[in-house]
Amino acid sequence: MQRKILVTSALPYANGPIHLGHMVEYIQTDIWVRFQKMRGHECHYVCADDAHGTPIMLRAQNEDITPEQLISDVSKEHQADFADFGIGFDNYHSTHSDENRALASQIYLANRDAGHIEARTISQAYDPEKEMFLPDRFIRGECPKCGAADQYGDNCEACGATYDPTELKNPVSAVSGATPITKESEHYFFKLGDFEKTLREWTHSDHLQPEVTRKLSEWFESGLQDWDISRDAPYFGFEIPDTENKFFYVWMDAPIGYLASFKNYCEREGIDFNEFMKPGSDTEMVHFIGKDIIYFHALFWPAMLEGAGFRQPDNIYAHGFLTVDGKKMSKSRGTFIKARSYLDHLNPEYLRYYFAAKLGSGIDDIDLNLEDFQTRINADLVGKVVNIASRCAGFLSKRFDGKLADSLSDPALFNEFTAQAESIAKRYEAREFGQAMREIMALADKANQYIDEMKPWVLAKEEGKDAEVQAICTMGINLFRVLMTYLKPVLPRTAEQAEAFLNIDALAWSDALMPLLSHSINKFQPLMTRVEQDKIDAIIEASKDSMSKTDKPTQAKSVDSNIEPIAAKIQFDDFAKIDLRVAKIVNAEHVEGADKLLKLTLDIGLAEKQVFAGIKSAYTPEDLIGKLTVMVANLAPRKMRFGLSEGMVLAAGPGGKDLFILNPDDGAQPGMRVK
Ligand code: 2FM
Ligand code: ZN
Repeated sequence: MQRKILVTSALPYANGPIHLGHMVEYIQTDIWVRFQKMRGHECHYVCADDAHGTPIMLRAQNEDITPEQLISDVSKEHQADFADFGIGFDNYHSTHSDENRALASQIYLANRDAGHIEARTISQAYDPEKEMFLPDRFIRGECPKCGAADQYGDNCEACGATYDPTELKNPVSAVSGATPITKESEHYFFKLGDFEKTLREWTHSDHLQPEVTRKLSEWFESGLQDWDISRDAPYFGFEIPDTENKFFYVWMDAPIGYLASFKNYCEREGIDFNEFMKPGSDTEMVHFIGKDIIYFHALFWPAMLEGAGFRQPDNIYAHGFLTVDGKKMSKSRGTFIKARSYLDHLNPEYLRYYFAAKLGSGIDDIDLNLEDFQTRINADLVGKVVNIASRCAGFLSKRFDGKLADSLSDPALFNEFTAQAESIAKRYEAREFGQAMREIMALADKANQYIDEMKPWVLAKEEGKDAEVQAICTMGINLFRVLMTYLKPVLPRTAEQAEAFLNIDALAWSDALMPLLSHSINKFQPLMTRVEQDKIDAIIEASKDSMSKTDKPTQAKSVDSNIEPIAAKIQFDDFAKIDLRVAKIVNAEHVEGADKLLKLTLDIGLAEKQVFAGIKSAYTPEDLIGKLTVMVANLAPRKMRFGLSEGMVLAAGPGGKDLFILNPDDGAQPGMRVK
């Protein structure tokens, strides 16, 4: 039976670039959607930019542009990144759209009229200079528990304590630096508790992963709290109907953005939106999300929908976070990789395959191990899959004008391949992509073994073996075609190139079952090349250089701020290992091809060291020559694209023009130890 499925991925915030952490979700969803489409289902994949909220409003102000301009610019970048990664959205919209305004009002009013909204006056921190209420993350001060300076209003990065912003010592507004005052205002609350009974049922009825259901049970035990869905002006969002200067909180209209994007698409394509939205609809609605936003999707969202008389989601599939080389992505290690930095250097299909090979149906974090990435792509995709075609295609085109034989030389082997179609399909359906990849690669091994044993290159040299060579190569090409069918959800572009090479229409899942015989194929063009180390190095280097503070992606837990949280504690011994020296900058020059780097020659008395420093945005070479600075003198040399860097100069500041080389007082001598 043909299913009708609406699929969404979480909407990225419209104020930061897409990075590889985001890509886990879009790749996961896209593979699932492509698989459903190949199986002949009607599947619609929609997304949008999440365009509202305080960080977007403030960033636009900082850049002296309107929020509309900002979100339009960012949307273009996001869409280019997604398209280049082969993410096949059927529609990409914005939460700042007419459809979303109308749907958000409709859902709110229905809930209000049914008694699920309550107005209450609350006290909040207020910035008297900027004349705005401050979200917790925009208040900074000393941690009430450990005294660490410069901590966020809701938790301390140094000791991990969580607290109320009113408990912070010496609080300041991160927006203006003013001391916040406490001010009252009326807010609107969504009474989540009204939906407790249906939510309990819904969260225990196979709509969620078992580990998510378990997590939700804990939340039920601690009681469902009313949810504050309003924000005071100034706020970039939609004004709440029948109020003045009250706006929907960004998280209220964000999930409604899924429906808005779908509605926009339905109107364009002539699809019946209401058929998908009515309770009891036999269509499906499936949301892919990260595990950090389960609360919004598995509690608020079904409740809001119920209160408005809409259908419930069928499934919410959460995934884990991405680590790189086993650690949280980090700008200093160059592992905070923007989608664009990756795309500048490597084929997106490699990452799609690597993530597929690592993804399962659970919420465990997945690790991008760069060495393993290189090995696996080279071994699996280049060494196994593509190799099958390249080993057979040459003989066919040179000696048989690209013509395949009229029968298979080993039908049993072909049947072994096709017999796995349903098992692999089940893995895709269940989002067990890693298991699917393992089954497919085991088949690729078999195909290569077959060619190894048949040795067409030996037979090709013997008289009268033409038919055999053609039959073996026909067999190899057919096995390759089955593998490409199975891999197509993961490798859409490679599959497209393979279709052109095989001279066939777009492969559907059932095509794998029938062999391709007595058919002319085209000349083989290499489908993929190996991943080289220098490409990975270049990505890391670009990530070190490019991720300035201002284009930090804003996630649920981060805010625009020029102050970085304090890093994890180190012991005195760790610190004592760092040899800090006063260094005289004896030469400074531009580095050809580097946007951010200057090449410095530093005299530290005992030796001269060459250092590449990312300070070009703040200094010209002339500014620096003759100045003293402080350098880490015993840092292991690092090979960079432009040469060897033998240390690091110490600078402070948010980046861009505001970057200050540490400058010891007069009287310091090159080589002096800094203590
Ligand atoms: O966490 C985030 O990045 C949000 N922008 C996700 C929103 S998903 C949906 F609700 F819109
Ligand atoms: Zn603390």
